[in-house]
Amino acid sequence: MKMGFIGAGKVGTAFGAYLQRKGFALQGYFSRSTDSALKAAASTNSFVYETAKALAKDVDFLWITTTDDHIKEVCDHLAEENAFRKGQIVAHMSGASSSRILYRAKEKGCFIYSIHPLQSFADIGKAIEDLEHTYFSIEGDGEKMDVIEGLFQKMGNRTFRIATEHKGLYHAAACIFSNYLVTLMHQGLAYFEKIGIPKKEGFQAVLPLILGTIENIEALGTAIALTGPIARGDGETIFHHIQSIEEKMPETLWFYKMMGQMTFHLASVHKLKDPEKKEGLKKILSEV
Ligand SMILES: NC(=O)c1ccc[n+]([C@@H]2O[C@H](COP(=O)([O-])OP(=O)(O)OC[C@H]3O[C@@H](n4cnc5c(N)ncnc54)[C@H](OP(=O)(O)O)[C@@H]3O)[C@@H](O)[C@H]2O)c1
Repeated sequence: MKMGFIGAGKVGTAFGAYLQRKGFALQGYFSRSTDSALKAAASTNSFVYETAKALAKDVDFLWITTTDDHIKEVCDHLAEENAFRKGQIVAHMSGASSSRILYRAKEKGCFIYSIHPLQSFADIGKAIEDLEHTYFSIEGDGEKMDVIEGLFQKMGNRTFRIATEHKGLYHAAACIFSNYLVTLMHQGLAYFEKIGIPKKEGFQAVLPLILGTIENIEALGTAIALTGPIARGDGETIFHHIQSIEEKMPETLWFYKMMGQMTFHLASVHKLKDPEKKEGLKKILSEV
C-alpha cells in the first residue's frame, strides 16, 4: 500500500519516519513550502511532490497532516481537482475534528478517517521515539477499519475506535489529560514560588509525588488512588488551606475550591462515608 503525506510538519514527518521504521513503504511528501517537504522526504528516503494533486494521485493511503485549519481546505481542493479515486483511504490526524471534514473525498468514493495519536509532539526526533508507545484513536468509515487497525497492530501500537458523534467529548478529555494537567502543575508551582521555592526546584521536588500518584492510579483506579485531606474528611485542614490561600493568593481561591468540590465528589465514591464529615467538607468548600 503506497502512502503519502500532505503537510510536512512535526506529525507528518515523524509519523512518516515511524511508518518507514516499521517497514511500510512511503511514497513521499507535499507541503506548503518545498523546504519542509524536502526535509521530510530526505529523512524518510521518499519523494518530494510539486503538487498535492500529483501526490494524491500516486498513493493508496493519503495522510493530510497540515495544521487543523487547513485540512478541509486541502481536501476540498483535491476533490475539485479530481485528484481522488475510488477506494482510496484519506485520513487526517487531528484530535479535535472528525472524519466528516473530509466528506468531499468520500463523495469521490474514498474511505475517510480521523486517526489521532494520544501524544504531544514538540520535536520530530523525540516524536519518532514517543510513537513507539503511543495509543491511537480511530474514527471513520467502517469499511477499511480492519485494514487501518491491522496497520497499527503490525507497528505494535494499540488503538481504540470512537464514534463520530463522540469526537468532541473525546478531544475535551484529551485536553484535560494534557493541557489541564499543565495548568494544575503551574498553579501548584505558583504556590511554591510564593513561599520562596523556585519553580525548577519545586518541580524536581514534586515529580516523585506526581509519578507515584500516576502509578497508584494505574494500579488502583482514580477513586481508590485518591488520598489526602478530602479523602479523609479532614475539614479542618481544608479550612486552613483556604485561609492560607485567601491571605497569600486570594485570586486563586475559586480554583482551589472548584478542584476541591470535584475531589469531594470523587472521594464520596469510595473513601468518604461519614455523613457528618461529608456535610462539614461540603459546607467548607462551597461557603467559606
Ligand atoms: N503536535 C502535536 O502534538 C499533535 C498531536 C496530535 C495530533 N496532532 C495533529 O497533527 C496535525 C499536524 O500537526 P503538527 O503539529 O505536525 O503541525 P505543524 O508542525 O505546524 O505542521 C503542519 C504542516 O502543514 C503544512 N501545511 C499547512 N498548510 C498547508 C497547506 N495548505 N498545504 C500543504 N501543507 C500545509 C505546514 O507546511 P510548511 O512547513 O511547508 O509551511 C507544516 O509543515 C494536526 O492535525 C494536529 O492537530 C498534532
